[in-house]
Amino acid sequence: MKTSITLAIVAFCAILSTTGCYYDVEEELYPVTTCDTVDMSFDTDIVAILQRECLACHSNAAHQSIGGGVNLDGYDNVKTYVDNGKLLSSITHDGNASFMPKSANNRKLAKCEIDKITVWINDGARKR
Ligand code: HEC
Repeated sequence: MKTSITLAIVAFCAILSTTGCYYDVEEELYPVTTCDTVDMSFDTDIVAILQRECLACHSNAAHQSIGGGVNLDGYDNVKTYVDNGKLLSSITHDGNASFMPKSANNRKLAKCEIDKITVWINDGARKR
């Protein structure tokens, strides 16, 4: 008798935990992928992307030797290329500037990164 009650409890818990797991897994299988493009500013959102993807060639130190003389180090330098339209053209590959980030296979930034920079520029390219 004791054994069957124990068995029943174990079975009950097992069923509970599997159904519990089922929901968890379902949420992991279909994650809600969002790209936050609200209130973009250079300091909070954009500079990190440029540092990771562009400054290897376009920093103060590197731009003359491997960045074609294009300096994207700091807000004021970046703003020059925002204002002349080259920054957006270069990352969207619209044909009005060289394709960036420069790579052998014309790689593009992640869509979310392009979206963030596009919204940032269209909203006036705030520093902070
Ligand atoms: C591997 C080095 C390298 C990386 C990484 C790189 N660039 Fe460049 N970039 C260059 C070189 C070299 C030039 C000049 C020659 C040319 O236009 O192709 C250039 C030119 C540019 C220009 C001027 C384009 C024109 O047509 O006048 C812009 C704007 C630019 N880069 C933006 C970026 C941005 C934004 C990133 C990051 C998303 C980036 N670059 C990443 C090497 C690089």
